[in-house]
Amino acid sequence: MTTAETAATPAPQAPQAPHAAHAELVRKIYLSGIAGEKPKLSTDLTALEEAARAVLEPRAYAYVAGDAGTGATGRANREAFDQWRLLPRMWKGVGERDLSVSLLGRRLEVPVLLAPVAAQTVVHPEGELASVRAAAEVGVPFVLSSFSSHSMEDVAEAAGAQPRWYQLYWPNDPAVAESLVRRVAAAGYTAIVVTVDNPTFGYRPSDLDTAYIPFVHGEGIANFTSDPAFRSQLPEDAGDMAAIAHWAKIASNPTLTWDDLPRLRRWTDLPLLIKGIQHPDDARRALAAGADGVVVSNHGGRQLDGGVAALDALPAVRAAVGPAVPVLMDSGIRTGTDIVKALALGADAVLYGRPYIYGLSLDGQPGVAHVLRCLLADLDLAMTLTGCPSLTHITRELVAPRGPLTV
Ligand code: FNR
Ligand code: LAC
Repeated sequence: MTTAETAATPAPQAPQAPHAAHAELVRKIYLSGIAGEKPKLSTDLTALEEAARAVLEPRAYAYVAGDAGTGATGRANREAFDQWRLLPRMWKGVGERDLSVSLLGRRLEVPVLLAPVAAQTVVHPEGELASVRAAAEVGVPFVLSSFSSHSMEDVAEAAGAQPRWYQLYWPNDPAVAESLVRRVAAAGYTAIVVTVDNPTFGYRPSDLDTAYIPFVHGEGIANFTSDPAFRSQLPEDAGDMAAIAHWAKIASNPTLTWDDLPRLRRWTDLPLLIKGIQHPDDARRALAAGADGVVVSNHGGRQLDGGVAALDALPAVRAAVGPAVPVLMDSGIRTGTDIVKALALGADAVLYGRPYIYGLSLDGQPGVAHVLRCLLADLDLAMTLTGCPSLTHITRELVAPRGPLTV
């Protein structure tokens, strides 16, 4: 049946697939056109950045969109996706698709989590609360940044039953570090993502030119100001500026080495994923030091200019750790077909970053929900069109380097 026919006849009461048919969104949008409606935000997930630029304060836009240095790593991230082309297979029985994945002993309905993104009140007054509510609405797990504008307990309450992970920036004060990690488990987060590619912030001309970073304005430090160990290090009557100054003193930890990881392991039983891995040897080191998995990422090109694309690093990391270790990936993912490429090249799941922040900028919780629904619809359709009824069908044979086929 063509789309026009679908739109013209009343919707048949088709039995629901066991797993939500995310591609239904497309049919719903076309049907809404009969009543003269259309989506409030673009369904082109690569168009949201420009739309957000038009509504955000220039310095807020610069903080979110900015890359390190000349932006070469950010560009490489996108170019790497374009180097690979999908090679679809036909008549594989794709009437129902199962997008679920087993990760760290739990079943996730989709192979996507929201990436940890700091200080979200910079783009919308409800910040992480709006994002996590949208994640729960759509059924996507949320990863909370250490540098969030709302405390991990408040975000946990907003998340309800939706799975959530916590991203740790390991502070250089041991009492605060241990206190944060113990709060994470108490607040019902089920994994810790330890980010290792930020011993210090990268050289970011877009932020330097506006002389702006959220934290020195007190945005993004709620986990610290709500922390008993952090508070105990300040005089009782300490004001915001004293808290910000203390945060700046302890927030980063460039002295860390792999030998420190066992200390973190002793503070928590939660699974530990190391985020920011690019070299296969670092993936091996992380596992040897007690990590449960890795996230291949270059921080969306925000840290080191002139670095390798995260997608280019992925196959070597997967080969280094073997098939059983959880490997996630981010940096440059914009569409559902990007997710298929990342999974074909070795990822079990991906983290989705900037596009959802643009959705938050444009329309708060509904904006994030819109972005996620579009992403999952695109992924569901990509699986349908490549002949993959489940994620296990997404293998290396599904992608080919650009240029004439050699199969
Ligand atoms: C980030 N990222 C990030 N990562 C992290 O581990 N902790 C953090 O607090 C932040 N904060 C942050 C803020 C902003 C504004 C951005 C855009 C990104 C990195 C993030 O988790 C992810 O690695 C990148 O966003 C992936 O790149 P793309 O796909 O979003 O371009
Ligand atoms: C950033 C930090 C907070 O990328 O991870 O801005």
